[in-house]
Amino acid sequence: MIVFNEVAKKFPLGNYALNEVSFEIDKNEFVFLVGPSGAGKTSIIKLILREILPSSGTVTVAGDEISSPSFNKISELRQKIGVVFQDFKILSDKNIFENIAITCQIQGINKSETKSKVLKTLSLVNLKNKENLFPVQLSAGELQRVAIARAIVGEKKYIVADEPTGNLDPKTSWEIMKIFKKIEGDKTIIIATHNSDIVNSLKKRVITLKEGRIVKDNKKGGYDL
Ligand SMILES: Nc1ncnc2c1ncn2[C@@H]1O[C@H](COP(=O)(O)OP(=O)(O)OP(=O)(O)O)[C@@H](O)[C@H]1O
Ligand SMILES: [Mg+2]
Repeated sequence: MIVFNEVAKKFPLGNYALNEVSFEIDKNEFVFLVGPSGAGKTSIIKLILREILPSSGTVTVAGDEISSPSFNKISELRQKIGVVFQDFKILSDKNIFENIAITCQIQGINKSETKSKVLKTLSLVNLKNKENLFPVQLSAGELQRVAIARAIVGEKKYIVADEPTGNLDPKTSWEIMKIFKKIEGDKTIIIATHNSDIVNSLKKRVITLKEGRIVKDNKKGGYDL
């Protein structure tokens, strides 16, 4: 479970990225974060990853108050959360297998188990038999599926994605969404997006932000700014 309680994030120049933001996301819930540019979507994702700390209020992930200055289990937190970025962030000098295996290595999973987990995950994201290719040999949609594989391998229970379809055409965006749909129910999934077609079609929970505040939070919402 993820809980934001009265979270504000103020920057030194006095501008607020977030203000009075409170919500709860249940285990295995699927949530879209939407809102105009500058609304605070990325700030919420950074707070969940503890890349930034709130100016006031608390952020709790899986029972740990990660916003506390004394929170010292940052590596454990990051091991629970898989992250998917708009620009994929795949390492170009490593092949596809190695890119995904990194997650398992960080978690201390042994070589043979890593191999079976990576191959199983590649097949889940429809990239069977691509493990020996290098990133330059893949399309953008395929690279984003590698990024999702890297985010979900090794039993991560939370997936946060910041505009995962931002660089993709509509058809490829839908292929990416189908992968997220496949893992739905098994992980908590939080996706920040400007993709109104996808949000409107999936009818999932939608948290809508405007100027740092939640203006709507609908269980079966749409893209309605
Ligand atoms: N380091 C920073 N210093 C000052 N202001 C910041 C900083 N980071 C973010 N902000 C401000 O906080 C607000 C929210 O930014 P955020 O990146 O969370 O928006 P967003 O909803 O992700 O936008 P987009 O859709 O463009 O990605 C913006 O007004 C931004 O300028
Ligand atoms: Mg953003």
